[in-house]
Parts: sequence; C-alpha cells; structure tokens
Amino acid sequence: MKDKITIAIDGWSSCGKSTLAKALAKSLNYIYVDSGAMYRGVTLYALRKGWVGENAIDQEEIVRSLNHISISFEQNKNGTPDLLLNGENVESKIRTLEVSNQVSKVAAIKEVRTFLVDQQRKMGEEGGVVMDGRDIGSVVFPNAELKLFVTADPDIRAKRRFDELVSKGQDVELADVRKNLKERDHLDTTRDESPLIQTEDAIILDNSNLDQSEQLEVALDHVKNALAS
Ligand code: CDP
Repeated sequence: MKDKITIAIDGWSSCGKSTLAKALAKSLNYIYVDSGAMYRGVTLYALRKGWVGENAIDQEEIVRSLNHISISFEQNKNGTPDLLLNGENVESKIRTLEVSNQVSKVAAIKEVRTFLVDQQRKMGEEGGVVMDGRDIGSVVFPNAELKLFVTADPDIRAKRRFDELVSKGQDVELADVRKNLKERDHLDTTRDESPLIQTEDAIILDNSNLDQSEQLEVALDHVKNALAS
C-alpha cells in the first residue's frame, strides 16, 4: 500500500477539473496545484504590457520577460490557493473572459511552457499532489500513479462556466463563453508543444451527469485502487 501518490487531472476547458482537484486535495490532505492559473498569470502580465491582443502576439517580448515574472500561490481563507503574480494577488483578475481569450496563445509558446513546467514539477516532487491542466499526465508527471481525463458535454461546460462568471459579478454572454471554450479546446489540442491528449493510461471521467459530490466519490474510488496497486 502506497502512502501518498501523484494525481494528474487533464481534460477540456471548463469541465470541472479544478473543482474536482480541489475537492480531492482537501479530502486526501494533498497539495493542490492549478497549473492553468499559472498560464493565466503569464497571460495577464502580457496583456498588461500590451504584448497580446485580438490579432497579435509578441512572442519575443513575452519570452524575454519570463525572468521578470514570478508566479506563486498563497492559501486564501477558504483554504484554496490564490495566484500571485510578482507578489500581487491576481486570483480574480486571471479569471476574466479577457484573459481566457488570450491564454491558449500564450500557453502555446514553448519557452513559457518550459518555464512553468519546471516550477510545476518542483511543486509536486514530494508526491501527495493533485495537479490539473492539459499536459499533467503526458508531460509534467508522466509517471503519476493516477491519471484522470475529465470530460463533459460542451453545452453543459459552457453553461457551468457562464454561471460561475455571472456569480462572480462578471458581465458576460453565454455565446461568448461557448465560443471561448471551443477556441481554446481547438488551440490546446492542435498546438505543437504538449497538446492536450488523453494518455493511454488515463481513466476517463465524464461528469456531464454527475454533481460535485458524485464526481468526487468516483475519483476517490480510483484513488483507493491506485493506492492499493
Ligand atoms: O479552467 P479552465 O479549464 O477553463 O482552464 P485553465 O485550466 O485555467 O487553463 C487555461 C488555459 O491554460 C488552457 O486553455 C490552456 O491553454 C492553458 N493550459 C495549458 O496549456 N497547460 C496546462 N497544464 C494548463 C493550462
């Protein structure tokens, strides 16, 4: 019986990966790392500098600036991690549709990925970690003891993200959220660097018809098996 394992959760945009990862980490007393937040942090930095926009991206400036970017997390009062960009808490600023509309372009840059993957590996090197993203089971932790590939019906995903943004007071349209998810899924699966793939050893978890506690129960069963094997 193993003590603590590494859990890699990958899947489509807004399919409930982070909700599941947070709940698993809480229930198992593991560290939770939201790798997507780290890509969003770099994207916010580039947006503030004007290096990424609707039709253009200045990859050279973004790559050159990486040694001026510090990404870290701090626990908030709910016990979940908030993203810090150069020490500033930008947790709510990285969740806007403006950042979502640019993040997959920034995440496709090889040097950005190397910069963040190195840090993600360090955060998880002791085990006892749940990390969610697009390349966790394929690139960051290819030897993870448990790999989950989360999926859900695209309309359900769009509605969930729309409700989440509205509940945070953001003024968004469902059609724009749906368009963003579609575009990100396309960019994330077709890029050259670490595209989103379902690895052969990943277990599919379709949560279209599962609520949060049901999906946690299913995942905890898989954890039990992984710990015993
Ligand atoms: O929460 P949601 O599924 O909408 O996205 P996220 O996990 O916050 O990730 C935002 C974006 O970052 C993704 O659409 C990817 O372009 C990129 N990403 C990535 O390339 N690799 C990761 N490990 C995590 C995120």
